[in-house]
Amino acid sequence: MSEETLSNLLHEGRRFPPPAELAEHANVTAEAYARAEADRLGFWADAAQRITWAEPFTQVLDWSDAPFAQWYVGGKLNAAYNCVDRHVESGHGDQVAFYWEGEPGDTRTVTYAQLKDDVCRAANALVELGVKTGDRIAIYMPMIPETVVAMLACARLGAPHTVVFGGFSAKALSDRILDCGVEVVITADGGYRRGAAAALKPAVDEALESCPAVRSVLVVRRTGQDTPWTAGRDVWWHDLVDRQSPDHTPEAFDAEHPLYVMYSSGTTGKPKGILHTTGGYLVGVTWTHWAVFDIKPDTDVYWTAADIGWVTGHSYIVYGPLANRTTSIMYEGTPDTPHKGRWWEIIQKYKATILYTAPTTIRTFMKWGADVPAEFDLTSLRLLGSVGEPINPEAYIWYRDTIGGGRIPVMDTWWQTETGMHMISPLPGVTAGKPGSAMRALPGVSADVVDDAGHSVPNGAGGYLVLTEPWPAMLRTLWGDPDRYRDTYWSRFPGLYFAGDGAKKDEDGDIWLLGRIDDVMNVSGHRLSTTEIESALVSHPKVAEAAVVGATDPTTGQAIEAFVILRGSAGDGGADVVKELRDHVAKEIGPIAKPRSILVVAELPKTRSGKIMRRLLRDVAEHRPPGDATTLADSSVMDLIAEGLATST
Ligand code: WT7
Repeated sequence: MSEETLSNLLHEGRRFPPPAELAEHANVTAEAYARAEADRLGFWADAAQRITWAEPFTQVLDWSDAPFAQWYVGGKLNAAYNCVDRHVESGHGDQVAFYWEGEPGDTRTVTYAQLKDDVCRAANALVELGVKTGDRIAIYMPMIPETVVAMLACARLGAPHTVVFGGFSAKALSDRILDCGVEVVITADGGYRRGAAAALKPAVDEALESCPAVRSVLVVRRTGQDTPWTAGRDVWWHDLVDRQSPDHTPEAFDAEHPLYVMYSSGTTGKPKGILHTTGGYLVGVTWTHWAVFDIKPDTDVYWTAADIGWVTGHSYIVYGPLANRTTSIMYEGTPDTPHKGRWWEIIQKYKATILYTAPTTIRTFMKWGADVPAEFDLTSLRLLGSVGEPINPEAYIWYRDTIGGGRIPVMDTWWQTETGMHMISPLPGVTAGKPGSAMRALPGVSADVVDDAGHSVPNGAGGYLVLTEPWPAMLRTLWGDPDRYRDTYWSRFPGLYFAGDGAKKDEDGDIWLLGRIDDVMNVSGHRLSTTEIESALVSHPKVAEAAVVGATDPTTGQAIEAFVILRGSAGDGGADVVKELRDHVAKEIGPIAKPRSILVVAELPKTRSGKIMRRLLRDVAEHRPPGDATTLADSSVMDLIAEGLATST
């Protein structure tokens, strides 16, 4: 974000105090900040009472081996028990856990009692497949109830899951399976997207060609499409799970027992396996979900419109909402299938009270026009949430006015796969929100903005966002790579967690996020690494060298722009080559990683030490005259690129 947009943002003067009715009945009041300020660990000890412990913890935090944290030391619990069984035991078995809406229009209603039975059956099925505590299981699924069941069955057995987004390629899936040492995969024949059945199982088969350790593949029948089958390895969910007992006694695991690994892009080509453990994670997501969305389990109908394949789905479709006994909506497909009002139709149908989505989606709805939602009754809504990237004031106001009828607060929640839970966000009954600001750290969370030397900047100044104290849902390490964990997050500023985001404090000390400052792009709220896409491009035989930058895009936030040097034998790079390379990236990583454009160039701008100057390429991609190029090894390179640009358009 440029300095100019930044100062515009900071002159954004609108304030939206909480609606009186909401403030009056809010789960959390301003007192929580004072309480946490006075006794942070005492605050988190109280928050831990929202979940059920089989054995109580004896110490809230052990930070003696920092940055390796242990939360709720000595405590034992079962995450699946907390998400389902205890609600059935307390007499809420008939409450709906999920109103599920398939893209073609088929629906299912899953109560807590049914969910409990299904989770137990699936857990028993996994036991029959030989799964033991500690074994890793990959889940590669569409957005169907069985995805939740599969995750909770893993949690019930203490077998960490790694959910791989269904839009990722076979290659991305096999990389994750290998890195995580997975032996069992849960998938489906396919799912519905954009009005058609999209196969998933063939990608699993392709991935497993390079993963000999995987011995079983459990397959849900969702679409009924023809599915390739490997006898002895593949087993249908309905053959194995349906015949199991709906009873299964949950075992209590240590608070630090691994719950899941979620891969996320970093600044190198190799995705990071972010490890979350059981007790602290569950406390963190349960408390923040209850506080930030003011969840009233008896009356709310809550909808996180995200995919379970991302952390948003893990924390705020599965673990947080279920632990809080929330009734949720889950939708399988795309927002414009079969028509552009699909989401609003769903909200009207189920009388949704809370909607949580991403700025990129809001901007897409803005493009489609306000007359689309205007046809539906959205008056059931009482709270809106945003996540994934900074929300620009225009999108914030449109969301608040057009979807929220001008009366509903917007919770702009800043967090990361690594943080596991919301970190910086308004509180709906407390905060007077400013459009474009995530406001301040939640109670019990400590964030700051620091300069190059790690010193806190004064109000009105910008710098790097850091987290200054450990928090319960923090990642514990990177799977199999504790050194990379320490280097990536804790070495830039000793003793502080470096988030990788730029931020500014306004005159009131409220925080405005400014986007990533490393080589990580944010495309439609999805984190993608420039290096990872560069590696994918270079893996194509026609490419000699590649550089990728994120250019500002009005809808997706950032768009991927690639610059490639072709090998001598590859010709001069006509439209065919560009298409071939875009498809290659989709195959290597997934369609979301496809560059918006690929420019074939003769040279890339590099410093004398050989580092690509992405800043200059970003200038080109954003149609600006290139900035200071004096550190270039060869100053004529930018002219060559400009010429190439002129002839290619
Ligand atoms: C990065 C984390 C957290 C789930 C979705 C993305 C950006 C996220 C916000 C926000 C400004 C945001 C940051 C962060 N980000 N939410 N409300 N305002 N930026 O998870 O893939 O781990 O990405 O997303 O840059 O570092 P993720």
